[in-house]
Amino acid sequence: MSLRTFILGLSASFGVAWLAVIVIPYLKMRDLAPVPFPESKNTAAIFNPKRTGRVAHGAKVYAENGCYLCHTQVIRPTYAGNDLYRADWGGKKEDPVRGDTRRETNAFDFQGETFAHIGLTRMGPDLSNLGHRMEALRATGVDPEQWLLLRIYNPQLNPKLWNSTCPPHPFFFSKREIKGNPSTDALPVDVGPDRELVPNSDARALVSYLLSLKKDHAVPASLNFTPVKKDDES
Ligand code: HEC
Repeated sequence: MSLRTFILGLSASFGVAWLAVIVIPYLKMRDLAPVPFPESKNTAAIFNPKRTGRVAHGAKVYAENGCYLCHTQVIRPTYAGNDLYRADWGGKKEDPVRGDTRRETNAFDFQGETFAHIGLTRMGPDLSNLGHRMEALRATGVDPEQWLLLRIYNPQLNPKLWNSTCPPHPFFFSKREIKGNPSTDALPVDVGPDRELVPNSDARALVSYLLSLKKDHAVPASLNFTPVKKDDES
């Protein structure tokens, strides 16, 4: 083999992979414009959830602490594994207004995010629609914000989760002396007499982000890969 063929072969084998894996996807996805869709009974226009401010900060905290290592935010296309049967993963099975909102994830679900936290493994449950689960929890009389803070502090404090492998993050909280009235956002954890456990701003931002996680808004039929498509919901 001449040097020329070798160099050409080498460039071709790396070049084709580079084109297919980096250049083409980049060109396709670098500026995704919102997809307009015809007025339907539920949405009059394009809807992109806002992901700025505290939610964006929370997404950063989520990344910094490696939550994505164990939690995905992708409802897979059914050919790659069925996720839709889990009523609360892909959306709500029975939304009072929209009916069945379950659908697969698409690229637009991450619009406005600096980083799409699709996740690496599924040691823990998928969090694409955690916000809906937290709303359901609120309906049962539990304060989801406090529930999340407690589980971020130490999931195993919840007797039902005594063997949870979701790691504790005590460094988001400070134990401080109660001066005057106790803090309104202190967690119900006993940390000694006259002392309280309060979340820091990162913990609150993370909770705002987790509560905001809803990736089931209506999409045009062309993007709705749910097996049963409904015309009026497209
Ligand atoms: C080592 C893997 C691992 C990491 C890292 C991890 N988790 Fe978890 N997580 C789990 C497992 C396993 C569960 C299921 C058991 C449970 O509910 O505690 C879970 C459950 C959860 C739940 C409850 C979801 C539900 O639907 O009930 C939330 C919320 C959560 N994790 C948030 C986080 C956040 C926020 C981070 C990052 C600060 C994080 N997790 C990092 C493994 C992990």
